[in-house]
Amino acid sequence: MPMKENPVIGAILSRRSIRKFRSDPVPPEVRDLLLECAFAAPSAHNRRPCRFVVVEERAVLDALAEAHDSGKMLFQAPLAIAVCAETAGYPEGDRAWVEDCAAALENILVAVRGLGLDGVWLKVMDRHPRNELVRPLLGVPESVQVIGIAAVGFGAEEKAPHEGIREDLVHRNRW
Ligand SMILES: Cc1cc2nc3c(=O)[nH]c(=O)nc-3n(C[C@H](O)[C@H](O)[C@H](O)COP(=O)(O)O)c2cc1C
Repeated sequence: MPMKENPVIGAILSRRSIRKFRSDPVPPEVRDLLLECAFAAPSAHNRRPCRFVVVEERAVLDALAEAHDSGKMLFQAPLAIAVCAETAGYPEGDRAWVEDCAAALENILVAVRGLGLDGVWLKVMDRHPRNELVRPLLGVPESVQVIGIAAVGFGAEEKAPHEGIREDLVHRNRW
C-alpha cells in the first residue's frame, strides 16, 4: 500500500478547516470515539489537565456562535467540543496545559477527518472579549481555561488538501 493511502496519513493530509456544515447530527458513537481520541493525546508529566465540554444542545451551540466572533459556523455545526484545561496545581510559569490541550484538540480534528466528518479549531484562550463571553456559557470554574472549541459536523464545503514540504521553512541538522 502506498504510504499516502495509509488511513492515518490520509486523515492528517486531507484535514482542512471546514466552516460550512450540513444539519445532520453527529452519531453518538462517533462523538464518543472523538472523545476517546482526545484522551489518547500525550500529556507533559502525564498530568492530564484536559477537560471537555461536549455541546449538542442547539440553544447552547447558538449562544456560543453569538459569543464567538469567529465561530459563526456553530449556528450550523451539530457538535462542539470545548477543550479546557484544569490549571490548578501547575507550578508558576508552567503552561504545559496549553500544549496538552492543543494535542488533544488536534487529535479530535484528525479523528474527525478520519471518520469522514469535518471540523475547525476555534480559539478561545487569550482572545478578549471572546474568552469572557464564552466562559459563562460553558459554566467553567475559575481555575479552568477554555483553550479552544472543535466545531464538528458533516462538511458542506470541500477544500483541497495542503501539499508538499516548504523546503525554505525546513532546516536540516541545524538552522
Ligand atoms: C490555535 C488556532 C486557533 C484557531 N482559531 C480559529 C477561529 O477562532 N476561527 C476559525 O474560523 N478558525 C480558526 N482556526 C483555524 C485556522 O484559521 C486554520 O487552521 C488556518 O486558516 C489554516 O487552514 P487549514 O486548517 O484548512 O489548514 C484556528 C487554528 C488554530 C491552530
